[in-house]
Amino acid sequence: MTKKILITKSAGFCFGVKRAIAIAVETAGKGEAEDGKEGPIQSLGPIIHNPQAVERLQEKGVGVVESVDEIACGKVIIPSHGVTRSDRSALEGKGVTIVDATCPFVTKAQEHAKALSRDGYAIVVVGEPDHPEVKSIISYIEKGVPVFTTVAEVSAAKGVRKAGIVVQTTQTFDNLMSFVAAAMRRFPEVRVFNTICNATTLRQQESTGLAGLADVMFVLGGYNSANTRRLAEICKAINSRTYHIETERELSPSMIEGASVAGVTAGASTPPWIIAGVLDRLKEFWKCDRIEVSFYR
Ligand code: F3S
Repeated sequence: MTKKILITKSAGFCFGVKRAIAIAVETAGKGEAEDGKEGPIQSLGPIIHNPQAVERLQEKGVGVVESVDEIACGKVIIPSHGVTRSDRSALEGKGVTIVDATCPFVTKAQEHAKALSRDGYAIVVVGEPDHPEVKSIISYIEKGVPVFTTVAEVSAAKGVRKAGIVVQTTQTFDNLMSFVAAAMRRFPEVRVFNTICNATTLRQQESTGLAGLADVMFVLGGYNSANTRRLAEICKAINSRTYHIETERELSPSMIEGASVAGVTAGASTPPWIIAGVLDRLKEFWKCDRIEVSFYR
């Protein structure tokens, strides 16, 4: 009997993640003492939200620190999801070499938040308030401007005439629309900047379709990756046999028991070698004469 593995066409690294990794590798390749400045190469927080990829970068000489206080010298790489304005200023104050790997789409969201708040708009930020990207977007809002991060806060807002909406790049369109609806009910003027990035939309669309036709669905990526967690939520809502895993080591034969079609999708920060490892392990478990592997879009 033929078994099928279908992989979403867009699975894995997006433009911003590829760019951030290339910047980190290039920086590591130049060595520590370039520009006459001694010291280590470190990123302020993980460069991307994938522990295995970050580990590989560490082997190449790119360390990770959690706060600006831990940095005294050397080169500091700003991760793809950005850092807060105050962290950036603190780094500038320390005189370290800043290597900016912020994804341009995240920068766009920061800029919209800044410009809207300067123009007198209260700001609605659609996203996870504790996520580094959302913290960075909020940090660009001018001081004293009201900021709302939940639908309940928007619905309860008082004395606001105009509001601008920006979105964490990895949010779902449906979530954005629930904020837009609440804002339209509450404020006379609403400006919306849909800063959800195309890579996110594409991965969500393809994963939605595939989850509907696969017997079992695997979502690959870091547990700390917001976009991967969102893919897992979307797939789980459609296909109860959905597993979010980081690597092939978490696979077990019982997961594919009785299934003929396995769907595979992966977050924007999941490296190609993780996807390849999962495919190999699935083929190993599925001992049958014919296994077809193809892309789904
Ligand atoms: Fe950038 Fe979108 Fe990737 S915001 S880091 S291209 S998911």
